[in-house]
Amino acid sequence: MSAQRARPARPHTALTDDGRRVREVLTYSRRGARMSDRQAQTWVRRHQEWWIPDDRFDWPGFDVGDHFGREAPLIVEIGSGIGEATAALAAARPSYNVLAFEVWRPGIAETFLRLEASGVQNVRVASVDAVWAMEHLLPEDSLSELWTFFPDPWPKQRHRRRRLVQPGFAGVAASRLRVGGCWRLATDWPEYAEQMRRVLDAEPLLHNLHRSVAPRWTERPLTRFERRGVRAGRPIVDLAYCRQ
Ligand SMILES: C[S@@+](CC[C@H](N)C(=O)[O-])C[C@H]1O[C@@H](n2cnc3c(N)ncnc32)[C@H](O)[C@@H]1O
Repeated sequence: MSAQRARPARPHTALTDDGRRVREVLTYSRRGARMSDRQAQTWVRRHQEWWIPDDRFDWPGFDVGDHFGREAPLIVEIGSGIGEATAALAAARPSYNVLAFEVWRPGIAETFLRLEASGVQNVRVASVDAVWAMEHLLPEDSLSELWTFFPDPWPKQRHRRRRLVQPGFAGVAASRLRVGGCWRLATDWPEYAEQMRRVLDAEPLLHNLHRSVAPRWTERPLTRFERRGVRAGRPIVDLAYCRQ
């Protein structure tokens, strides 16, 4: 599965003609990369097996199947955090390859701990920008499912353009799904939930699997972010939109 076309530089690597870093609109903030001792030990133990180094994404002919050592239907998770949903959902789907994107390295080390605990072998984690990778590396019609749980809400008006779910990216994401493949989302931010529905209702390649919001996806484990939202009294909204 390779996307053979010229691609622009990954975020954080593009330079202007006079050598300055290009200012980019990103869906994440750069959090510290400092790991606890336990995280650092886990990283050393597992990263060669489960992490796809950033520079591999720059290689021509990148093929995600090569990194799993097998061809299998592909599921992508964007913003896997500490891997709570990743480990549980991947364990229930051993016949799928699960590619989790998370730019925060300590979160990836935490994810490795959870993968070890659940005994799964079908997950690989990437720390490059998922928005860039979805557009430039993953071919159309290649995903069986896409998961985005509790994406950064960017509540301030001036930051809204950093939200993941907006028209341009929704079109890319929809086109990467196979017909029948679903994009499952959850958020604890009511106004973002409304934006998601507006954007995804307007995306011609998608249809809402439910007439309105989806019932809570029972397989989705309760994560730290969901608990935080519940504690703050925010309603949790699940959505499921599928490629038509
Ligand atoms: C609010 S957290 C939610 C984590 C997890 N899904 C959960 O439910 O606990 C969102 C995560 O998405 C990651 N993220 C946001 N945009 C991303 C992108 N474009 N590529 C990779 N990771 C991204 C952030 O680093 C952050 O850890």
